[in-house]
Amino acid sequence: MPVIYILNGPNLNLLGKRQPHIYGSKTLADVEVELQALAKELGFEIRFHQSNREYEIIDWVHEAREDGAAIVINPAAFTHTSVAILDALNTFEGPVIEIHISNVHKRESFRHHSFVSHRADGIVVGMGTDGYQLALRGAISKFNASRDSK
Ligand code: DQA
Repeated sequence: MPVIYILNGPNLNLLGKRQPHIYGSKTLADVEVELQALAKELGFEIRFHQSNREYEIIDWVHEAREDGAAIVINPAAFTHTSVAILDALNTFEGPVIEIHISNVHKRESFRHHSFVSHRADGIVVGMGTDGYQLALRGAISKFNASRDSK
């Protein structure tokens, strides 16, 4: 089965407890369970990771270079700061979908710029934690389209 990496950045381990009026009440574990079920239904395997450390996210992108069909990434605050994550994603050949739970464009101006968007093939913003399922479906459809065109 093709493998899709789902990567989550800093503070997302606190999902469900952290500012629920912005990020909702589901935990990251709830999100993972939903994505595992959806991936299975669509015939894909997912590797779901979260880290508060930038280098771990970079290492998972490097791992995805070996066996990843696509990457879905919520880089959290690293979105707005990390050229290093952008550089790592630029070494990956498959589809990259960026996802943000909140609508970053409705928030503080420092959240309006994303380094990762320079690489992303698609972006899901402001759809709450349901956005992860939309992002996974988008990653799969882009992967299937590129496979079919080969
Ligand atoms: C976020 C938005 C970022 O600005 C913020 O730093 C996060 C989460 C989101 O999912 O809405 O930690 O990526």
